[in-house]
Amino acid sequence: MKKTLLALTALTLLATAAQARTWDQIKASGTIKIATEGAFKPFNYFEGQKLTGFEVDLANSVAKQLGLKVQWITQPFDNLLIGLGQDRYDFVIASHGITPERAKAVDFSDPHYCTGGAIVSKPGGPKTVADLSGKTVAVQVGTSYLDNVKKVSGVGDIKTFPKDTDAQAALMAGRVDAWVSDKFLGLDAVEASGGKIVQGSLLFNEKIAMAVKKGNTSLLKELNTTLGKLENDGTYAKLSNQYFGEDVRCR
Ligand code: ARG
Repeated sequence: MKKTLLALTALTLLATAAQARTWDQIKASGTIKIATEGAFKPFNYFEGQKLTGFEVDLANSVAKQLGLKVQWITQPFDNLLIGLGQDRYDFVIASHGITPERAKAVDFSDPHYCTGGAIVSKPGGPKTVADLSGKTVAVQVGTSYLDNVKKVSGVGDIKTFPKDTDAQAALMAGRVDAWVSDKFLGLDAVEASGGKIVQGSLLFNEKIAMAVKKGNTSLLKELNTTLGKLENDGTYAKLSNQYFGEDVRCR
């Protein structure tokens, strides 16, 4: 009898632990747990010890609007959606493009920006999709860049890196012919390089959104409503201008 009870308690505990926190539970706790990567400047990155960036500021604004404190968790990009499924945090904001594949595993919010994957190379290197034929391309693992570079007909070797910064470093070191990454991030990198690298064509466009655990509709609704508010009250435009000098919302 005792044993059965114990087993039942353990099962109940497991079952509760495997449940994403609903909006009411998050609200009652006073703190929302948000995960990002922290290595994708200017979207989410570290300035010394401080986690910052457009997405970090935007998510902090969302939490503030919701009256919550934030606990940030940083994870390698490839682990972020897995950790969401394991209820290690409430939502993820890390420049995930909305894809049918990912939408099977998580629920996406309304997009918080629109962008595309662009080719970056050294001057004289590949600039167009056709130029990638037979060329070696660096991309971050688990990204939409990888999926889309794979689709380029005749593309040479594709080298994947755990971090986008490592993919960029491979290009700088001349170990690959091109690097495909976010177009805004690429522009920043081009500017910082002082002419060592240049941006070429866009490979594809994508809508970027926050992700909650599949089925966490109560939290999703709060995120969407709050994002809408920030887009209407000028907060979004201010942040976007600060980081990009333009408004990057989808339209
Ligand atoms: N937008 C791309 C994708 O959806 C790359 C995102 C990479 N994000 C990051 N935090 N490194 O896969």
